Amino acid sequence: MAMLVRTKAEIPDAAYRKMVLTLMDKQAGREVATAEVFGQCVLYAPTVEDKIRITRFQAEELKHFQLIGALMRELGVDIDAYVRDRQKAGARFTGDEADVQIRDWIDATLFNFMIDRAATFQLTEYTKGSYAPLAKANAVILKEEEGHKDFGEACLEQMCQDPATGRDPAPLPEVVRRFAAHLRPGRHAGQPVLSAGRAQDP
Ligand SMILES: [Fe+2]
Ligand SMILES: [Fe+2]
Repeated sequence: MAMLVRTKAEIPDAAYRKMVLTLMDKQAGREVATAEVFGQCVLYAPTVEDKIRITRFQAEELKHFQLIGALMRELGVDIDAYVRDRQKAGARFTGDEADVQIRDWIDATLFNFMIDRAATFQLTEYTKGSYAPLAKANAVILKEEEGHKDFGEACLEQMCQDPATGRDPAPLPEVVRRFAAHLRPGRHAGQPVLSAGRAQDP
Protein backbone atom coordinates (compact mmCIF):
# COMPACT_ATOMS: atom_id res chain seq x y z
CA MET A 1 0.00 0.00 0.00
CA ALA A 2 1.20 3.51 -0.81
CA MET A 3 2.72 5.51 2.02
CA LEU A 4 0.35 7.96 3.74
CA VAL A 5 1.46 10.55 6.29
CA ARG A 6 -1.73 12.01 7.74
CA THR A 7 -0.30 14.68 10.06
CA LYS A 8 3.03 16.25 10.94
CA ALA A 9 3.20 13.93 13.97
CA GLU A 10 3.40 10.97 11.56
CA ILE A 11 6.40 12.34 9.63
CA PRO A 12 8.75 9.34 9.72
CA ASP A 13 12.19 10.96 9.67
CA ALA A 14 14.27 14.06 9.01
CA ALA A 15 14.79 13.20 5.33
CA TYR A 16 11.02 13.04 4.70
CA ARG A 17 10.50 16.32 6.59
CA LYS A 18 13.21 18.00 4.52
CA MET A 19 11.70 16.72 1.27
CA VAL A 20 8.22 17.98 2.16
CA LEU A 21 9.62 21.37 3.20
CA THR A 22 11.55 21.64 -0.06
CA LEU A 23 8.41 20.90 -2.09
CA MET A 24 6.44 23.47 -0.13
CA ASP A 25 9.19 26.08 -0.38
CA LYS A 26 9.25 25.77 -4.19
CA GLN A 27 5.49 26.07 -4.40
CA ALA A 28 5.06 28.85 -1.83
CA GLY A 29 7.71 31.02 -3.47
CA ARG A 30 5.98 30.70 -6.83
CA GLU A 31 2.52 31.41 -5.41
CA VAL A 32 3.76 34.78 -4.12
CA ALA A 33 5.74 35.44 -7.29
CA THR A 34 2.70 34.77 -9.48
CA ALA A 35 0.61 37.17 -7.40
CA GLU A 36 3.25 39.85 -7.85
CA VAL A 37 3.38 39.36 -11.62
CA PHE A 38 -0.43 39.40 -11.86
CA GLY A 39 -0.09 42.84 -10.25
CA GLN A 40 1.87 43.89 -13.33
CA CYS A 41 -0.73 42.25 -15.62
CA VAL A 42 -3.57 44.35 -14.17
CA LEU A 43 -1.96 47.46 -15.67
CA TYR A 44 -2.47 46.11 -19.20
CA ALA A 45 -5.82 44.29 -18.89
CA PRO A 46 -7.97 45.76 -21.67
CA THR A 47 -11.33 45.92 -19.86
CA VAL A 48 -12.52 46.55 -16.34
CA GLU A 49 -13.86 42.97 -16.25
CA ASP A 50 -10.39 41.66 -17.14
CA LYS A 51 -8.80 43.84 -14.45
CA ILE A 52 -11.27 42.53 -11.86
CA ARG A 53 -10.60 38.95 -12.90
CA ILE A 54 -6.81 39.33 -12.80
CA THR A 55 -7.07 41.03 -9.41
CA ARG A 56 -9.13 38.08 -8.17
CA PHE A 57 -6.46 35.68 -9.49
CA GLN A 58 -3.85 37.71 -7.62
CA ALA A 59 -5.79 37.36 -4.36
CA GLU A 60 -6.24 33.63 -5.00
CA GLU A 61 -2.48 33.16 -5.49
CA LEU A 62 -1.86 34.84 -2.14
CA LYS A 63 -4.48 32.59 -0.56
CA HIS A 64 -2.62 29.59 -2.05
CA PHE A 65 0.51 30.93 -0.40
CA GLN A 66 -1.31 31.17 2.93
CA LEU A 67 -2.51 27.56 2.66
CA ILE A 68 1.00 26.27 2.02
CA GLY A 69 2.54 28.79 4.45
CA ALA A 70 0.35 27.48 7.27
CA LEU A 71 1.75 23.97 6.68
CA MET A 72 5.31 25.30 6.59
CA ARG A 73 4.70 27.20 9.84
CA GLU A 74 3.54 23.92 11.45
CA LEU A 75 6.95 22.53 10.56
CA GLY A 76 8.76 25.44 12.17
CA VAL A 77 9.25 27.95 9.34
CA ASP A 78 8.94 31.65 10.26
CA ILE A 79 6.50 32.62 7.52
CA ASP A 80 6.51 36.37 8.20
CA ALA A 81 10.28 36.41 7.74
CA TYR A 82 9.90 34.12 4.70
CA VAL A 83 7.67 36.67 2.94
CA ARG A 84 9.75 39.65 4.03
CA ASP A 85 13.10 38.22 2.98
CA ARG A 86 12.22 36.58 -0.31
CA GLN A 87 13.44 38.06 -3.56
CA LYS A 88 10.84 39.63 -5.80
CA ALA A 89 8.84 37.80 -8.45
CA GLY A 90 11.16 37.55 -11.43
CA ALA A 91 14.09 36.38 -9.39
CA ARG A 92 12.00 33.56 -7.97
CA PHE A 93 11.18 32.25 -11.43
CA THR A 94 14.57 32.44 -13.09
CA GLY A 95 17.13 33.87 -10.67
CA ASP A 96 16.98 37.36 -12.15
CA GLU A 97 14.39 39.94 -11.13
CA ALA A 98 14.63 41.65 -14.54
CA ASP A 99 13.43 38.47 -16.30
CA VAL A 100 9.73 38.88 -15.70
CA GLN A 101 8.61 42.31 -16.80
CA ILE A 102 5.09 42.48 -18.16
CA ARG A 103 4.99 45.22 -20.77
CA ASP A 104 1.66 44.68 -22.56
CA TRP A 105 -1.42 42.43 -22.73
CA ILE A 106 0.37 39.88 -24.94
CA ASP A 107 2.97 39.39 -22.18
CA ALA A 108 0.22 39.18 -19.58
CA THR A 109 -1.73 36.61 -21.59
CA LEU A 110 1.32 34.44 -22.29
CA PHE A 111 2.27 34.56 -18.62
CA ASN A 112 -1.23 33.54 -17.56
CA PHE A 113 -1.45 30.85 -20.24
CA MET A 114 1.93 29.25 -19.51
CA ILE A 115 2.36 29.64 -15.75
CA ASP A 116 -1.13 28.53 -14.78
CA ARG A 117 -1.08 25.71 -17.29
CA ALA A 118 2.20 24.42 -15.82
CA ALA A 119 0.84 24.88 -12.29
CA THR A 120 -2.24 22.81 -13.13
CA PHE A 121 -0.15 19.88 -14.35
CA GLN A 122 2.34 20.06 -11.48
CA LEU A 123 -0.19 20.52 -8.70
CA THR A 124 -2.27 17.62 -9.99
CA GLU A 125 0.74 15.47 -9.08
CA TYR A 126 0.98 17.15 -5.67
CA THR A 127 -2.62 16.14 -4.88
CA LYS A 128 -1.42 12.51 -5.08
CA GLY A 129 1.51 13.01 -2.69
CA SER A 130 1.97 11.03 0.52
CA TYR A 131 1.91 14.05 2.86
CA ALA A 132 -1.86 14.36 3.30
CA PRO A 133 -1.96 17.99 4.56
CA LEU A 134 -0.13 19.13 1.41
CA ALA A 135 -2.20 16.92 -0.88
CA LYS A 136 -5.44 18.30 0.61
CA ALA A 137 -4.31 21.92 0.35
CA ASN A 138 -3.45 21.37 -3.29
CA ALA A 139 -6.84 19.84 -4.06
CA VAL A 140 -8.32 23.24 -3.07
CA ILE A 141 -5.65 25.20 -4.91
CA LEU A 142 -5.97 23.14 -8.07
CA LYS A 143 -9.63 24.08 -8.60
CA GLU A 144 -8.66 27.76 -8.74
CA GLU A 145 -5.61 27.12 -10.88
CA GLU A 146 -7.84 25.43 -13.42
CA GLY A 147 -9.93 28.61 -13.57
CA HIS A 148 -6.80 30.68 -14.14
CA LYS A 149 -5.61 28.31 -16.85
CA ASP A 150 -8.98 28.43 -18.64
CA PHE A 151 -8.89 32.24 -18.70
CA GLY A 152 -5.35 32.23 -20.11
CA GLU A 153 -6.44 29.83 -22.85
CA ALA A 154 -9.53 31.90 -23.70
CA CYS A 155 -7.51 35.14 -23.89
CA LEU A 156 -4.87 33.53 -26.07
CA GLU A 157 -7.50 32.09 -28.40
CA GLN A 158 -9.21 35.44 -28.74
CA MET A 159 -5.90 37.19 -29.33
CA CYS A 160 -4.96 34.75 -32.08
CA GLN A 161 -8.28 35.32 -33.86
CA ASP A 162 -7.91 39.09 -33.70
CA PRO A 163 -7.65 40.42 -37.28
CA ALA A 164 -5.02 42.89 -36.02
CA THR A 165 -6.82 46.00 -37.14
CA GLY A 166 -3.80 48.20 -37.57
CA ARG A 167 -2.45 47.42 -34.13
CA ASP A 168 1.29 47.46 -33.69
CA PRO A 169 2.56 44.92 -32.95
CA ALA A 170 -0.05 42.85 -34.80
CA PRO A 171 -1.15 40.26 -32.21
CA LEU A 172 -0.80 36.92 -33.95
CA PRO A 173 2.75 37.15 -35.37
CA GLU A 174 3.94 38.74 -32.14
CA VAL A 175 2.27 36.07 -30.01
CA VAL A 176 3.87 33.34 -32.11
CA ARG A 177 7.28 34.99 -31.94
CA ARG A 178 7.24 35.48 -28.18
CA PHE A 179 5.78 32.04 -27.55
CA ALA A 180 8.50 30.38 -29.66
CA ALA A 181 11.21 32.44 -27.99
CA HIS A 182 9.92 31.53 -24.57
CA LEU A 183 10.02 27.84 -25.39
CA ARG A 184 13.34 27.99 -27.21
CA PRO A 185 15.50 25.05 -26.17
CA GLY A 186 18.60 26.18 -24.34
CA ARG A 187 17.11 29.42 -23.05
CA HIS A 188 18.87 30.03 -19.78
CA ALA A 189 18.15 32.06 -16.69
CA GLY A 190 20.07 35.07 -17.94
CA GLN A 191 17.80 35.61 -20.94
CA PRO A 192 14.62 37.63 -20.52
CA VAL A 193 11.56 35.38 -20.41
CA LEU A 194 8.80 37.50 -21.84
CA SER A 195 10.71 39.94 -23.97
CA ALA A 196 12.96 37.33 -25.58
CA GLY A 197 11.14 37.35 -28.91
CA ARG A 198 10.66 41.07 -29.35
CA ALA A 199 12.07 42.42 -32.59
CA GLN A 200 13.25 45.61 -30.94
CA ASP A 201 15.22 43.81 -28.30
CA PRO A 202 18.91 43.19 -28.93
FE1 LIG B 1 -1.59 29.43 -7.24
FE1 LIG C 1 -2.75 30.55 -10.77
